[in-house]
Amino acid sequence: MGINPCSRMPKSVLIAEDETVLRESLAELLKEEGYEVLQAPDGQAAYQIALDRPVDLVLSDVRMPVMDGIALLGHIQKIAPHTPFVVMTAYGTIESAVQAMRAGAYDYLLKPVQFDDVLMKVQRALQFAEMWRSQRVITEQLAEESTFHNLVGNSKSMIKLFDTVRKLSTVKSNVVICGESGTGKELFARAIHYNGVTREKPFVAVNCGGIPETLIESELFGYKRGAFTGANRDKIGYFEAANNGTLFLDEISTLKLGVQSSLLRVLEEKVVVPVGDTHPRQIDLRVIAASNQDLEKMVEEKLFREDLLFRLNVVKLVLPPLRQRKEDIPELVHHFLDKYTTKTNKSVLGLTNGAMRALLNYEWRGNVRELENVIERAVIFAEGREIGVEDMPFNADGISDDVGEDLKEALSQFERQHILYSLRRHNYDKAEVARHLGIGVSSLYRKLDELNIPKNVGETSAGSSSI
Ligand SMILES: Nc1ncnc2c1ncn2[C@@H]1O[C@H](COP(=O)(O)OP(=O)(O)OP(=O)(O)O)[C@@H](O)[C@H]1O
Ligand SMILES: [Mg+2]
Repeated sequence: MGINPCSRMPKSVLIAEDETVLRESLAELLKEEGYEVLQAPDGQAAYQIALDRPVDLVLSDVRMPVMDGIALLGHIQKIAPHTPFVVMTAYGTIESAVQAMRAGAYDYLLKPVQFDDVLMKVQRALQFAEMWRSQRVITEQLAEESTFHNLVGNSKSMIKLFDTVRKLSTVKSNVVICGESGTGKELFARAIHYNGVTREKPFVAVNCGGIPETLIESELFGYKRGAFTGANRDKIGYFEAANNGTLFLDEISTLKLGVQSSLLRVLEEKVVVPVGDTHPRQIDLRVIAASNQDLEKMVEEKLFREDLLFRLNVVKLVLPPLRQRKEDIPELVHHFLDKYTTKTNKSVLGLTNGAMRALLNYEWRGNVRELENVIERAVIFAEGREIGVEDMPFNADGISDDVGEDLKEALSQFERQHILYSLRRHNYDKAEVARHLGIGVSSLYRKLDELNIPKNVGETSAGSSSI
């Protein structure tokens, strides 16, 4: 149970407790559960251990000789600020538990401690720390970026949207973000979170469409050990993991009506009850829901609960498709050029006018994501200092080369482009390309034939420049 499923390394718990009998029985209990246990009879000794090696959790008494639990907490926070700290205190000294929580302890246990309680709190604290750690990485990455939380845009519609994000910085209102695929819904959700009062708290993104229907409630609300087959330990849900911060529910339109009702109840009552549990947990967070479907229309069609939409729709952001804000294209192009020249260490300086015209004329069905992919590819294959129209997957009028309306024709054009892309990417090594495409080498040769790609493509200079 104390095993981390990713690394298969046991989690380590440092116990600081001056009562030997209690300390040793706790150590025994945790060892049996698979944790690695370190013991110290006072705060000073515990601090020495933590200086020597990383520990995953500290379980500490408050009153101890030499250095007490509160002082130890302060020291641990300096060397390992995200290590969860759980304090143990006697009934008569409950105010010291409050003091510890204020000073940043994750949780507390009242003495005499109940072993079940110890195991549950240790496990929850470790799970929380793990989620928190993965969220920290994102905060730190974002902090390095310059633009408005990575969002680029100068069009009127974008400026207005940025303004709304700024206005949301002091409140935790729920938000609905609508927009076609690739318009930046997730990026906006993160901007709202990191620009606001929630910035130091968790941001948890959940793709509702990616979770099987039977698991969705237990993933969102958590479950109790034994709640169903396979639930061999308690697990906190995304709601609790995102507590005090933001829960980003992507593709909200995929939720079935039953789950929508449960979600509504949680939002109204501000408590979650894990599956198989009866004990409600208070929550306070902001939900940002995203959808590329028209939720109002789904309400009319009785596929989405109107009352749930009201709850979520306190503020609504509608992200316009890229083809309706073409004035943003040049800035986005330069943003992605910077990103990918840095990444690939190439010295591409810019685009020819023809290439820019092609980008402006194109119907961006895949929106900013598609634009980003086009620029990434162009940078990878650019041979000179400028990207030309020949580096685009469409011509200067923004029309994909040679593609008519016929579906079969369009598919084979796509296949051709994709195989050429893969060939270039893997240095024309056919075995490697076949492996990445998931087909056999002889099938690849057949495809080359069908798609009129010379078999010796890339092997002679004439071959490569003719693509
Ligand atoms: N205004 C913008 N400025 C810079 N990059 C952007 C902008 N909008 C989107 N992007 C980039 O485009 C890509 C797609 O954005 P994102 O994932 O937020 O879109 P989405 O609307 O959530 O898409 P989907 O509906 O497919 O989930 C990301 O790489 C993102 O960084
Ligand atoms: Mg998305």
